Amino acid sequence: MEELLKKMHSWMTAYMNRFVTDDEVVMQGIRIKMIHTGYVTTISRELAQHLQLSLHDVQLAEIMGLFHDVGRFRQYSIYKTFNDAQSEDHADLGLKVLAEEMPYLQELSSEDAELVRFAIQNHNKKEIAPTEDKRQLVFARLLRDADKLDIYRVLSPYLTPDGVDRAPKFIKADASQQISPDFVRDFAAGRQADYHKLRTHGDRKLIRLMWVYDVNYSWTLRKMVERGYIDLIIKYLPEQDGLEKGLQRLRNYIEQKCAAKDRVTL
Ligand SMILES: [Fe+2]
Repeated sequence: MEELLKKMHSWMTAYMNRFVTDDEVVMQGIRIKMIHTGYVTTISRELAQHLQLSLHDVQLAEIMGLFHDVGRFRQYSIYKTFNDAQSEDHADLGLKVLAEEMPYLQELSSEDAELVRFAIQNHNKKEIAPTEDKRQLVFARLLRDADKLDIYRVLSPYLTPDGVDRAPKFIKADASQQISPDFVRDFAAGRQADYHKLRTHGDRKLIRLMWVYDVNYSWTLRKMVERGYIDLIIKYLPEQDGLEKGLQRLRNYIEQKCAAKDRVTL
């Protein structure tokens, strides 16, 4: 497995390098995804170790992190956007890329290969597809957490009011800091807001904050808190009626979740 991992890493590095170009605007996006890939790979390993998975399973987690966004590169080169709604689902696209171009997944047992595919396919969906398979669920949850933790790192520099202007095109939304009233209502009620109704930069921040409710393992949430990502989002939320109720609910939730112990049985 150690050898196989090495081959997979080399393949991924070479694959990503194929998208390097002189176009600095395109490179902004490509570079972000290259670095994100590195971090998510490391975080997936760390989380798997924290969950006391076997060495084999830690290595599977590493493979999932490594390939989770492989579809981003083809997506960006074809559509010049990272917006799935305006192009195609980048996780589904990633599975296509792996099937067509990555020769090493078939060196895993068919069960392990399926596990990797399931986690990748479900890393960006609104919810994990229903499954009876406990391992599929554990790994899908792990990858979603690793991805979210690193996306908070990626977005942090763009949260300040002037950050909107500095943000690469694909992070930009309507520059308004105000949050739409229906989003504030959903937040106060602890409901997941409807992504498709996202209108402003403020809405986007609130949606990122509500990701907290979708974090699976307390380890991940503790990292998000320790690294200051949550406070940073809250700090730059606009002053708006009704927000405080949602924030209080969120703070209570975070306190409880962080105090919980992660336990998985496989
Ligand atoms: Fe992704």
